[in-house]
Amino acid sequence: MKKIPVIMDVDTGIDDAVALILAMSSPHIDLKGVTVVAGNQILDKTIYNTLSVVDYFGGGDIPVAKGASKPLVKELYYDAATHGESGLGTAQLPKPAITAHRLDAVDFIKETLENSEEKVTLVPVGPLTNIALLLMCYPHIKEKIDKIVMMGGGAFEGNMNAVCEFNMFVDPEAAQVVFDSGVDIVMCGLDITMKSYTTMEDILRIKATGTKAGEFCAEAFGVYYDRYVNNSRLPGCAVHDAVAVTYLLHPEWIHTERANVKVDIDGTETYGQTVCDMRPNRNRHLDNATVCMDIDREKFIDLLVAACESYK
Ligand code: RIB
Ligand code: CA
Repeated sequence: MKKIPVIMDVDTGIDDAVALILAMSSPHIDLKGVTVVAGNQILDKTIYNTLSVVDYFGGGDIPVAKGASKPLVKELYYDAATHGESGLGTAQLPKPAITAHRLDAVDFIKETLENSEEKVTLVPVGPLTNIALLLMCYPHIKEKIDKIVMMGGGAFEGNMNAVCEFNMFVDPEAAQVVFDSGVDIVMCGLDITMKSYTTMEDILRIKATGTKAGEFCAEAFGVYYDRYVNNSRLPGCAVHDAVAVTYLLHPEWIHTERANVKVDIDGTETYGQTVCDMRPNRNRHLDNATVCMDIDREKFIDLLVAACESYK
């Protein structure tokens, strides 16, 4: 399998960290850089967490660039209740020895794509502010994007309210820019990520790997697991962002549907909703996204365990 050139955009957070660990462990992903946005926590904390995770698990030679500290229009809403005051739950990592790249997120992505001989896949797993700014500031760069594989949205459910998912909720205007951009989008929304949960048995398997990745993930999942089990119908915690990376590695494990996806920025009760038209009689020429609907959860968990084991 040829290496896939990737730039991830994260708001590290617990599941962002797991997604980074998975991506950095894979011989099939050429992680050319990581850009950071505010979301799960304020930018100072998401950039610190990302530097810590990349340095400790990635060897420190992967560039990390700082992006937007707030959404395009809304004030920042961040989620300390789910990811904790640090953004990584109760997990502790050594102080990072690396610092942020000299370029900001948008110019880092632009420069990296312009210098790349092949198209690059963008994997945003937080609010889409950085990606929207890139597309607005440098429209020509679309030609160097292979596709955008994002975590966010939901065809049939929300987690901030009945219809809106967190990443879309934080920056609906940015999401609309991205979905209207004409770039090929793979949407890993709640329809699939809420089926990608880790049970306590799965967490104990991850811990039993005995590696630094297994120890970190098991600790980070602690309060995250409790919050999900106590506040959702799930028998475990949803590892949302790792699903976007899993799509790159094993799309055959994932059921998808083509759709026309529009982001509502005018509604009161529906502000930030990803409205997914999958009707059989729709105008299929308007389809702008591949929406992920289901995953082989057992294989997903085995992949996470294998990724943690690889850090022996
Ligand atoms: O709704 C889940 C998403 O919001 C995930 O990306 C999580 O990290 C948070 O950013
Ligand atoms: Ca995230």
